Amino acid sequence: PARGTGAGPFPLAELHCHIEGAAPPALVERLAQRYGVDISAIIRDGAYVWHDFTSFLAAYDHAATVFRSEEDYADLAFAYLRELAAQGALYAEFFISPDHARSSGTEPEVYARGLAAGIVRARDETGIEARMVVVGVRHLGPEAVEAAAQFAAGPSRPFVTGFNLAGDERIGAARDFAKAFDVARDAGLGLTAHAGELCGPDSVREAIRWLKPSRIGHGVRAVEDPALVHEIAEKGIVLEVCPGSNLALGIYPAIAAHPLKRLVAAGVRATLGSDDPPFFHTHLSREYRLAAENGLTDAERIGLTRNAIEAAFVEEDVRRRLL
Ligand code: ADE
Ligand code: ZN
Repeated sequence: PARGTGAGPFPLAELHCHIEGAAPPALVERLAQRYGVDISAIIRDGAYVWHDFTSFLAAYDHAATVFRSEEDYADLAFAYLRELAAQGALYAEFFISPDHARSSGTEPEVYARGLAAGIVRARDETGIEARMVVVGVRHLGPEAVEAAAQFAAGPSRPFVTGFNLAGDERIGAARDFAKAFDVARDAGLGLTAHAGELCGPDSVREAIRWLKPSRIGHGVRAVEDPALVHEIAEKGIVLEVCPGSNLALGIYPAIAAHPLKRLVAAGVRATLGSDDPPFFHTHLSREYRLAAENGLTDAERIGLTRNAIEAAFVEEDVRRRLL
């Protein structure tokens, strides 16, 4: 199989990308035409339009409604993974949302089956390995998040290996989602949660306390509390850092101000992710470039790929082969 030769001197891997957020605008436009969906409010001149986190989430939700059939989802996962493989990625984990499937009128089982078919197609064609992490949407409330966990824990979910909490971090408290995480943990799923993106260190501390994840999505604002940074490093909790996303959403004004280098220097295990690449005008190889601009050495950047494979929610034999 093709191995990590697309983008540069070392292989890449990512653990943080939302599959609907990876939809190429051209694919969304094509499906919108097919199904008669008006997407003029969210795509203009071939690019997504939004202006803050709330309108980003609304555009994301709107784009998700054009994917309807098993084949549409297979095409989406395949397009995402083929592009990643071309950039030199060996492994990817992407987030899937049963709530977004339902919002387009698709049964979550059909959704997951289509995405799994896309994984198989991409692996056959490029050699890239991928797994799926089911998300519950925080701003839909604890019951919806628990239902998402029950879906993730269901029988026969090929390539589903983890559970995550996404959506608007400003809504609700981490402890409200503890039950959902218990369901996912009892099913043997890997656990991660978005925290420390829009909100500060307290949000990260609460997520660690109540949800007990092995990874945190973003987590970068933990840097505002040195004791918390120490705790994250000590516990070996891995941060899924998405610098391009943070810049696009204005969390940091410039890459020089991004805390990635400081976190790595403090002993935190980090990985890189593209989050919602076309929405944020980014892609994984750019994330690695941004890490270099932030001050990481080549050895440190290779370490981010190694961290991703070590922290991946993947079977041990596959992990050993990738390392
Ligand atoms: N859903 C899609 N992208 C997200 C992000 N960056 N944070 C939280 N939820 C999301
Ligand atoms: Zn995210």
